[in-house]
Amino acid sequence: MSSQPEHPTLLIPGPIEFDDAVLQSMSHYSESHVGPGFVATFGETLSMLRQLFQTTDPASQPFIISGSGTLGWDLVSANLIEPGENALVLSTGYFGDGFADCLTTYGASVTKIDGPVGGRPQLPEIEKALSQKKYKVLTVTHVDTSTGVLSELKDLAATVKKASPDTLVIVDGVCSVACEEIAFDAWGLDGVVTASQKAIGCPAGLSISMFSGRAMEAFKNRKAPPASYFASMKNWTPIMQNYEAKKPSYFATPSPQLVRALNTALKQILSRPLSERFQRHAEVSDRIKRAVRDLGLELVATKPEDQAHAMTAIYLPETVKTTDILPKLSGKGVVFAGGIHKAIAPKYIRFGHMGVSVTDPARKDIDKALEALRTGLAECGYQKA
Ligand SMILES: Cc1ncc(COP(=O)(O)O)c(C=O)c1O
Repeated sequence: MSSQPEHPTLLIPGPIEFDDAVLQSMSHYSESHVGPGFVATFGETLSMLRQLFQTTDPASQPFIISGSGTLGWDLVSANLIEPGENALVLSTGYFGDGFADCLTTYGASVTKIDGPVGGRPQLPEIEKALSQKKYKVLTVTHVDTSTGVLSELKDLAATVKKASPDTLVIVDGVCSVACEEIAFDAWGLDGVVTASQKAIGCPAGLSISMFSGRAMEAFKNRKAPPASYFASMKNWTPIMQNYEAKKPSYFATPSPQLVRALNTALKQILSRPLSERFQRHAEVSDRIKRAVRDLGLELVATKPEDQAHAMTAIYLPETVKTTDILPKLSGKGVVFAGGIHKAIAPKYIRFGHMGVSVTDPARKDIDKALEALRTGLAECGYQKA
């Protein structure tokens, strides 16, 4: 039984429902951010990220910084690329476009390859682009939360290594870390940026990232200093290294309560094999996608291999408006999100299925959501053709 007050089940693609123990970690008494208790917790949390991202290379560098997922884009844009250098952005929706905007803000020269709505750019096109120009970084949104499109990372990283070995492969994993497989070392990734509030299952407020030794070298070899103070790796790297070595250190005050919550969430995640967690998300996703199709509805992500496993973007029937169905769902105690991809925004809704809502067998969140969707659509006058 949850000790949380009764509330509508939050099934948007982040923030998600949180486990009681994670929330309770946030009510830790106030403590010094340089005191031994917190230093030990922060250090352990940073080390656990190595397991989460599946990296054993000591040169890999984890970061936990107060901020949201967007701060990960700033970390990449301010530190790993210099003004005028080229970045290749693979976009599968709103968040890929946002990463491109962020890179441009810091002066990068951005080339963007857009997937079709509901699809992703294909390897031959990417390989061709890589052969035409020298790119310092390539960015890919693992799961674009605006479309539920999953990008394939393993073959992509191998293609980049072959076509342009010096290009850093950077992944926006905000909607994929802790629910989709990410093998940082095995796939040769150079950076994965994420946030606390999605599949990791910790309240919003932490930017979480991992960078390879190669990425850290690229930062060290910069000619110009980073054009950001708060997002500067120069300021944060020694702090992270000191905390992980259990030594107090200060650049800007971290949030002890959020870091404690993250520590609890990571201990829960890492208490079971990661492969089991990914498998569970895939099984629940398959069930949801089957149920949605059985209702006669289409998914935004068209091909099965492009479909994310922790969220589903669902086209509404032509006769049903987002502004009708979302209030019906919330009346049934389920919160879904509306569409945000500019080409199709009013036509679809988004269902997040990650973290405790899929891993905790005691929770009936998914059954409740599917039933609410079925009855809600019927109340909107929809009947399957
Ligand atoms: C794929 C992706 N990237 C980046 C972001 C930005 O994260 P935040 O809203 O935490 O700043 C989001 C937010 O939903 C996202 O889904």
